[in-house]
Amino acid sequence: MHTTNTTEKLIDTFGRRINYVRISVTDRCDFRCVYCMAEDMTFLPRAKILTLEELAQISRAFVELGVEKIRVTGGEPLVRRNVVKLLGDIGKLPGLRELTITTNGSQLPRLAKQIRAAGVKRLNISLDSLDPELFRRITRTGELSQVLNGLDAAREAGFDKIKINAVILKNRNHHEVVDLVQFAGSRGMDISFIEEMPLGVIDDHNREESYYSSDEIRRDLARKFTLVPTTEVTGGPSRYFSVAETGTKVGFISPHSHNFCDTCNRVRLTAEGRLLLCLGQEHSIDLRQVVRTHPGDTEKLKQAIRDSMSIKPHGHDFNLQEKPLIFRHMNATGG
Ligand code: GTP
Ligand code: 5AD
Ligand code: SF4
Repeated sequence: MHTTNTTEKLIDTFGRRINYVRISVTDRCDFRCVYCMAEDMTFLPRAKILTLEELAQISRAFVELGVEKIRVTGGEPLVRRNVVKLLGDIGKLPGLRELTITTNGSQLPRLAKQIRAAGVKRLNISLDSLDPELFRRITRTGELSQVLNGLDAAREAGFDKIKINAVILKNRNHHEVVDLVQFAGSRGMDISFIEEMPLGVIDDHNREESYYSSDEIRRDLARKFTLVPTTEVTGGPSRYFSVAETGTKVGFISPHSHNFCDTCNRVRLTAEGRLLLCLGQEHSIDLRQVVRTHPGDTEKLKQAIRDSMSIKPHGHDFNLQEKPLIFRHMNATGG
């Protein structure tokens, strides 16, 4: 029988330890956020998507390689059928410290309790506007009330922590940053503001013109709140400040203005089983091929993952002035 070597670690050629994997379980979504997708998208056929069993097996391989945190993403992860079963299976893996989800919140009224029961302790929910019309314009198909109900359902389900993510676009929702912090703070939740990244060709706006930097947001917030820098290191790209008035935190994810690649601790699995070594580059290996050629052989998967460390690039080359260099949309990657 195969024994697990619990001391094994994944280290890349720049000496960075990889202990966090983001797994996209579907490229589909019930929303069409303007920064994430084009209006008219073609989604992957079922046969190309990893099965729940394959996803569980790949998760196991990662945890046996010392991965301590798994985040399930999409598209919208909660539109994948039977995702709760997968969450339960991943949540049981010995050695995993944290299982989390990033969701648009629309399915939470239906699923929040089951997700909590499956072992998910923290949730990140995307919310870019508190104005129903603007929310609809940004998500194209989203219903604000459904997401707010989802947020309430999540609070009732007793998650340890719920964090809000907001992508801020100039002249779209930049005027809402104070209200969003107030909204999150009054509910005891942290919030992160995200600079839009040039992933995939979108047809809605010019990304350079819509750029609203984290520093501008911080300046806007400082008119209303006292932001105290924290030294908190979460292993994520957010730089956090605590808000004296609410006792909660505000984070800034600033791929353009404050690059965080030096401390990158993560890799990503796309819904079709491509292991992406960096969000902003194309370096990848095909784990679907490995898992389908050697069904049930976790050792083969582990070897492929170990080998992939040699091609993890140093960082992204995001550039808002030019056409995107990365053709996949964010829904293929899960952020
Ligand atoms: P926690 O720190 O665990 O709360 O998670 P997180 O902030 O990494 O996760 P979340 O899914 O909430 O992601 C928020 C945003 O950060 C998304 O827009 C991601 O695309 C972005 N992000 C996460 N990891 C990276 C990364 O490695 N590089 C870049 N450029 N952006 C990232
Ligand atoms: N740039 C930055 N963030 C994005 N997201 C989706 N597309 C982009 C993009 N192009 C965000 C979502 C969600 C997170 C997973 O990624 O709003 O909060
Ligand atoms: Fe869906 Fe999230 Fe992309 Fe919006 S950002 S379209 S909610 S996957």
